[in-house]
Amino acid sequence: CLLLFTAVFILTADYIKNRRPGSFPPGPRAFPIVGNLFTVDYNRTHESLTQLAERYGDVYSLRMGQTWIVVLNRFDVLKEALVDQGDVLADRPNLPLLQDISQGLGVIFSNGKIWKQQRRFALSTLKHFGFGKKSLKPVILEEFSYCAKEFKSHKGKPFDPHLILNNAVSNIICSLVFGHRFEYGDEKFMELMSWFGKGLELEASIWAQLYNSFPLLMRRLPGPHQTVQHIWNSVKDFIRVEVKEHKHNWDPSDNRDYIDCYLSEIQMNKGQADDTFDEENLVVCVFDLFLAGSETTSTTLRWAFLYMVKYPEIQAKVQAEIDKVVGTSRQPSMEDRADLPYTDAVIHEIQRMSNIVPLSLPHVTTRDIRLGGYTIPKGVTIIPNLTSVLFDKNEWETPDAFNPGHFLNPEGKFVKRAAFIPFSAGKRVCLGENLARMELFLFFTSLMQHFTFSMPAGVKPVMDFRFGITLSPLPYEWLVAKPSLGF
Ligand code: HEM
Repeated sequence: CLLLFTAVFILTADYIKNRRPGSFPPGPRAFPIVGNLFTVDYNRTHESLTQLAERYGDVYSLRMGQTWIVVLNRFDVLKEALVDQGDVLADRPNLPLLQDISQGLGVIFSNGKIWKQQRRFALSTLKHFGFGKKSLKPVILEEFSYCAKEFKSHKGKPFDPHLILNNAVSNIICSLVFGHRFEYGDEKFMELMSWFGKGLELEASIWAQLYNSFPLLMRRLPGPHQTVQHIWNSVKDFIRVEVKEHKHNWDPSDNRDYIDCYLSEIQMNKGQADDTFDEENLVVCVFDLFLAGSETTSTTLRWAFLYMVKYPEIQAKVQAEIDKVVGTSRQPSMEDRADLPYTDAVIHEIQRMSNIVPLSLPHVTTRDIRLGGYTIPKGVTIIPNLTSVLFDKNEWETPDAFNPGHFLNPEGKFVKRAAFIPFSAGKRVCLGENLARMELFLFFTSLMQHFTFSMPAGVKPVMDFRFGITLSPLPYEWLVAKPSLGF
């Protein structure tokens, strides 16, 4: 009888506490205690959330355990929220799993003063190394030559490009933050890279949702959510060793990389009232640049191979354009971009179709906000559904087909499309957008200049994905890279 009374009491309290307020966005019926935790298919979360928009509208709500979230769909709504009312959505929510790892430091999961100072510093340092005097262009092209050597070593036999690409792209971030690269096949580094993939996958799993919904309980229970903590802590330990070595042979008059610049910044800011620069913040910032900067670009390139192999006629057209504009005797450069409209359109279409950060990262309302005719109170988690924009039939002529024509006018000139927002938009827009665009352009054009990609007879490219925070293609081991004549 006591048990029955307790159950009725808990259910009634849950019902009263968690009722949808009148002006709150609609959504599917939430179950007691768990809410809509099991409404979503976590293997295809972005598709589940996009389908729900067809039923409940562009602004709708879900209750994940005891936490309300609001999902935003379509370009107009995302623009109104992230750009026009960007101040209200500039913060990240306090998700226990992310907070346990970042402790509110770094760039990706920090807020307020810490976020402002760390983001500004990261942007200016990236600009300095990426596009300023110490340009990353030669670093990217040199890394390409190592990558090409690995591809060639397979002598036209099928192979899996995953680890080579991960290593190549991560080496660009390594050169930026650590000032050195890692040899392909370096065991410690390979382990680090596999942690990133696994960690991102677990972050988007049902376990992460359960942890974020019931942190006190889940902290005490075993399960994959404990593995996430272990994985991220190992990555941070790896970074701490690099910081220690940098401090050992640091020369403030010659800042070699991001860590050196940060050590200078710590010294410069010492004693200032508002200072947020310290070693723990440095470790989390480097962690953030790695997390956000390696998996994303290499995953996009893995999708690029799939599309080029699936559409050999598009690959041939790209190669013909590169042959004509760049030739074979020199490496492509960013200045070539304007003269390679078809190639540029193909890269954009690869990014649109591969949709690698399908739900962006979560934001939170810092005040009450009106959106789509609803009132969303302060403190509600907001999910910007980028998928709903990148595949919107009102924005794209053939949203589900790979069609470089989306970015070309009838004269074959490249055209920008407002709904192309794989890097999100507003105050939290991807900090590495310029670097990522440069990496993708230089790597893709160099690959197309030096190789023709195909698959053995009888193989069909599978365009399905694995859902984590990033969408990655299923592993494939059949890529054939035939070097161009004379290479
Ligand atoms: C944030 C996409 C590459 C660093 C983001 C966000 C997206 C995104 C969607 C979330 C924005 C939001 O919260 O609204 C991508 C894509 C990439 C890429 C598609 C490559 C194809 C990179 C690279 C770096 C980087 C190369 C670093 C070198 C970051 C950081 C944030 C971020 C630090 C957090 C920004 C903040 O919270 O203020 N990215 N990204 N990203 N990205 Fe990227």
